[in-house]
Amino acid sequence: MQATAIAHPNVALIKYWGKQDVAINLPAVGSLSLTLDGLTTRTSVFFDPEFARDEVIINGRLDEQAQPRVARCLDMLRAYVGVTDKARVTTENDFPTGAGLASSASGYAALVAAATDALGADVPADELDLIARIGSGSAPRSLHDGIVLLEKSAGPTGMHCYSVAAPGDWPLSVIVAVTTREQKSVSSTGGMEASRATSSCYQRWVETHPADLRAAIEHVEQRDFEALAELSERSCLKMHAVAMSSDPPLVYWSGATVDCMQRIRELHRSGTPVFFTIDAGPQLKAICLPEAADQVHAAMTEMPGVVEVLDCRLGYGARVEA
Ligand code: PMV
Repeated sequence: MQATAIAHPNVALIKYWGKQDVAINLPAVGSLSLTLDGLTTRTSVFFDPEFARDEVIINGRLDEQAQPRVARCLDMLRAYVGVTDKARVTTENDFPTGAGLASSASGYAALVAAATDALGADVPADELDLIARIGSGSAPRSLHDGIVLLEKSAGPTGMHCYSVAAPGDWPLSVIVAVTTREQKSVSSTGGMEASRATSSCYQRWVETHPADLRAAIEHVEQRDFEALAELSERSCLKMHAVAMSSDPPLVYWSGATVDCMQRIRELHRSGTPVFFTIDAGPQLKAICLPEAADQVHAAMTEMPGVVEVLDCRLGYGARVEA
C-alpha cells in the first residue's frame, strides 16, 4: 500500500483565473499549459489501516495547513476505490514551494499518481483529473505531457484535460527568473474569488477567453511561435489586469518582475524568439525556442533582483517511480 510518483509544475500560456464553482474547484475558463521538466516534486503515499488521520509532510515538515485539502483529495480517491485507510504523504520539491512556481500543481498531480498506484486502483484519466483538481485547479495539467489543453466540457467532470503535443513534437525552452523564494501572500483561490466578486474586467475576461484558447490551439498546431508569443503575453496581461482591478487590488509583481518583462520585450524586438508569462507570484517565465535558451538565461541572470535562473524544457506528466 505504498508508492512514489514524480510530477513537474506547469506554466499556462492561456491562463486560468476564476472559478465557476468553488466547492468543486471547477474553473470558469479553460487553459493551455506547458508541463515542464527540470523542476520536480517527488511524493510517496503510504496507506495504513492503523493511521487515525492523513498526515502530510512537505519538505521534511509536518504541514497542517495543507492537510485538509490533501485529505479531501484522498477522500475522493478512497470513495472511488472503496477503501477507508488513511495515508502518510511525504513530498519533496527541488524548487521553491508556494512561490508562484506551481508547486501545488506538481504536488497534487504526484499525490494522485502515487496514491492511485499505492491502492492498486484502475482509475480513468478524467476521474484522476477531477481528483487532482480538488487540490489545485491547475494540477490536472501536470498529469499530462508536453503542451496540455484543459477545456470546459459538458461531461460529468465539467472539463477535459489532455496533451495536444508531446515534449518532442515542438521542443520549447522555459527559463524561470526567480525574484524571490518567499511564499506568496494571497493564494490563487483567494485572488480568483476576489476577482470574480469585485473586478469590473472579470466578465469580459470570461467572455473573451474561449476565442483566445481556440486561437492558441491553432498556433500550436501550426507551430507558429510568433503568433503564440503575442497571444500568450496578452492572456497573461489580461489575467493580471483582472487581478489588479480587484478590490483590494492584487499586484503579484515586484519591480524585478517588471524589469524582466521589459528585458524580454527588448530581446524580442531585437529578433530573439522569446516571450514572457507571469503567474500569481513575482517570478517571470520566459518561453523561447531552444536555440535562444542560452541568451535568455544569460539576460535573466544579469537582471538586478533575480536570485536564481532555472532552465526547463517540456516534460512528461506525473508518473510512478519503479
Ligand atoms: O491551480 P491554482 O489554483 O494555483 O491556480 C493557478 C492560476 C495561475 O497560475 C495564476 C494561472 C494558470 O493557469 O496556471
